[in-house]
Amino acid sequence: MSLNLAPDEPAAARAPAAAPTPTPAGTARATATVTEETRAPLTPSALRTVVRELAEQPDQWIHLVRLSTEERWYRRLVADDDHEVWLISWLPGQSTGFHDHGGSRGAFTVALGELEELSLGGPEQGLLIRRVPAGTARAFGPEYVHDVRNTASGPAVTLHAYSPPLGSMAHYDLRAGGLVRTSEEGPEQW
Ligand SMILES: [Fe+2]
Repeated sequence: MSLNLAPDEPAAARAPAAAPTPTPAGTARATATVTEETRAPLTPSALRTVVRELAEQPDQWIHLVRLSTEERWYRRLVADDDHEVWLISWLPGQSTGFHDHGGSRGAFTVALGELEELSLGGPEQGLLIRRVPAGTARAFGPEYVHDVRNTASGPAVTLHAYSPPLGSMAHYDLRAGGLVRTSEEGPEQW
């Protein structure tokens, strides 16, 4: 049962970039380079700063939090050209399963409660399990795969930032030989 599921709409979207000024023939390559530089993804460190600073301003998001017994509840707070920010709530037992972020960089912080994060280290490390208590943040690069779960006895609330904005997410099963890709979803699923 979902409780007062709020509509998923950007709460703080920045105005779209102005239309490019027409340029003479022969300058298309230079123009494209400038555009790519302007939209360079934020670094994991910058994304960590985004979620940490937002977590310190609960008046910006605490009134939006909902809890759902069916699945993790989520709402996008920022939909920008170069990054997006999501607010997610987790009841005990709710988890993501192993997933990637479609090549986006990312960061998340636990604002309330505590989560557990699973990831695969190198061949000698195997499965890594980290506690992620309130006040801590994790940041990762475009190839990162993890499983995040609420194994605590109470709900958790987290803030997540991705750059570029998520375009797809693949899901994986952890099997004896490692992670096996099982499915992929796009923005139409969230
Ligand atoms: Fe993730």
